[in-house]
Amino acid sequence: MFITFEGPDGSGKTLQIRLLAKFLRTKDYIVFTAREPGGTEIGDQVRNILMDMKNTAMHPRTETLLFCAARAQIVEEIIKPHLKKGEVVLLDRYADSTMAYQGYGHQNDLDLIRRLLDFATGRLKPDLTLLLDLDPDEGLRRRQQGGGEWNRMDAYQLALHQRVHAGYLEMAKQEPERWRIVNANQPPDVVQSLLRKIVSEYLTHNYPK
Ligand SMILES: Nc1ncnc2c1ncn2[C@@H]1O[C@H](COP(=O)(O)OP(=O)(O)O)[C@@H](O)[C@H]1O
Ligand SMILES: [Mg+2]
Repeated sequence: MFITFEGPDGSGKTLQIRLLAKFLRTKDYIVFTAREPGGTEIGDQVRNILMDMKNTAMHPRTETLLFCAARAQIVEEIIKPHLKKGEVVLLDRYADSTMAYQGYGHQNDLDLIRRLLDFATGRLKPDLTLLLDLDPDEGLRRRQQGGGEWNRMDAYQLALHQRVHAGYLEMAKQEPERWRIVNANQPPDVVQSLLRKIVSEYLTHNYPK
């Protein structure tokens, strides 16, 4: 069972994944969590390059390829082995983030990005993708109030974050069987109970014990 979390920085992905992992463990699932980019020794080095505020000269194509490079590594080194053991893998961002930011956000050729992602992931697709839907301004506001470290991706202008937002909703519409949209502009415990309901229903339908 491979579940990915998408949405802007500040939408609560890190917090919600931690709570959901705890919940699933009480239900006797073996849960593995990781975040992208990074999650491997090589991937974390790539993450540092991507997030470094000093790297203002980074071209969007460079950025795209670096995200894909880190992802290729975590897929082979971490995700596939854990899935093979029958664990539930919760991943904080995955290929859809590249579609959203480097595709819709930077207005690159979406089909090309899709093919690049197929290459990077070896076509490994999530079973379920949970979109923590939040207005870009609210996400940025939470971040400015001290939610995590301000990074190079945050610094992009609001217009990019708005295209990212629209891109996420478009992707969710195109693949409704995989995506679930949760309104992240609610108290954390409300968001968590919605996520638990979605995941519990999915698990009992698809992975009966
Ligand atoms: N539902 C929520 N309402 C208000 N603030 C929230 C909510 N969820 C998370 N936050 C706060 O927003 C910031 C970002 O949360 P975080 O879980 O790190 O999001 P992400 O991993 O998506 O960037 C943190 O300061 C967190 O406490
Ligand atoms: Mg986070």
